[in-house]
Amino acid sequence: MPKFRTVRGMRDFLPKQARIMRYIESLTREIAKLYGFKEIITPVVESYELLAAKSGEEIRQRMYAFKDLGGRKVGLRPEFTASIARLVATTLRNEPKPLRLFCVGSLYRYDEPQFGRYREFWQSNFELIGSKNPEADVEILTLTNDLMQKVGVQNYWFKIGHMGILRGMLAEEGIKEENQNPVMQKFDKKLWEEGLNMLKKLKVSEKCLRTIKSLIEIRGAKTEEVLEEIRKRVKDYESSVSAVENLGEILNLSFESGVKFNVSIEPAFARGLEYYTGMIFEVFVPELEIALGGGGRYDKLIELFGGEPTPAVGVAHGIDRIMLAMEKQKIKPKIPMEPLVVIIPVENELKSKALELAIHLRRRHVCAEVEVMGRTVTRALQDADRRGATHVVLVAPRELKRRKVVVRNMRLREQKTVDLEKLPNEILGG
Ligand code: HAM
Repeated sequence: MPKFRTVRGMRDFLPKQARIMRYIESLTREIAKLYGFKEIITPVVESYELLAAKSGEEIRQRMYAFKDLGGRKVGLRPEFTASIARLVATTLRNEPKPLRLFCVGSLYRYDEPQFGRYREFWQSNFELIGSKNPEADVEILTLTNDLMQKVGVQNYWFKIGHMGILRGMLAEEGIKEENQNPVMQKFDKKLWEEGLNMLKKLKVSEKCLRTIKSLIEIRGAKTEEVLEEIRKRVKDYESSVSAVENLGEILNLSFESGVKFNVSIEPAFARGLEYYTGMIFEVFVPELEIALGGGGRYDKLIELFGGEPTPAVGVAHGIDRIMLAMEKQKIKPKIPMEPLVVIIPVENELKSKALELAIHLRRRHVCAEVEVMGRTVTRALQDADRRGATHVVLVAPRELKRRKVVVRNMRLREQKTVDLEKLPNEILGG
């Protein structure tokens, strides 16, 4: 047999990493609960057409797509939003709005494997569906801010923009949406010159080109000043002006509500996914060039999937990348240390007693492992130490006759004889 390994771009999570991933996941669940988002579980495999509809050229190109045995063209989900929009357009069509939906799970993109970019990765995803109002956008920004706070990452900032600024301008220049999309893809990758050349070929006006060029230069944290500057430059394009106003409303509402986060407003910022219609954002930390999360408003997607016209806004957080940021910033997960007991029978005849004791402890919510390798007491003790046991219980005939066991506290390196009845309290410190 060949030596098997993981397929290129796929990773195993060993216990230490899996524990951190699940810890981050548990924080996203806490956020979902606090903000009233209900979890839904959607399939990993969806119809290719659904996944491809508005995901953008880059994601379309990198989709794990294949025909199933029934000849259907399907794909592994590269994101959650399409599945949720499908649900809202069909099964949840008549549900009262707003809907607050939360998903967590693995996604698949055939990206070139590199630091922070994997072919299988994990997201927590939040969608707030049914409201066109800025307070809905604020909720999505705020919950993302709360997640970053809970994780404990430092010096993060929100890169924030609005799809309506560029798209509004291009629509007024008569550029069709499908011709705008490749330009947005280039801008998403900061390939400004290539994007501008495409616009030249599409014969946008000189004024439009000049305006977009000048927008690429603008970025800043001073909301009023930056927005005023953008407004001045796009003043001849009515829909771009209202996009700037909408962004201003969202940011002002956030700050008035007392939320504190650093922003960099970037009017030429675009995202690879094609469905965004309004505010868009990504979260960064100084140590990583790649975003920890991203999202925005998409008011047309549900309609496109055959649903009622339904405005929506959402975000996905990259759990793998949050883990990388924690590593880079040396942030330890706040996972409470729980006692771990290893139970060692000192002779073969006491195996059943050791198993019984373990069951008894687990009923009291104490984590208990039984020595199953048939090792000598000395070797078993060494192994328990290596595995981070907080306590070892030695089941020995002399003590057992008196309904007692020997408990060794591995941290304090102390040993005492304890009544069987008092064992759980001894371990739990009660
Ligand atoms: P996205 O920007 O494609 O948005 O992905 C969101 C986050 O997922 C990224 O910021 C990143 O942290 C993580 N991510 C994406 N690709 C990879 C990868 N190859 N390896 C590791 N992490 C990755 C969306 O997926 C949208 N559906 C977000 C959204 C929800 N918009 C509205 N609602």
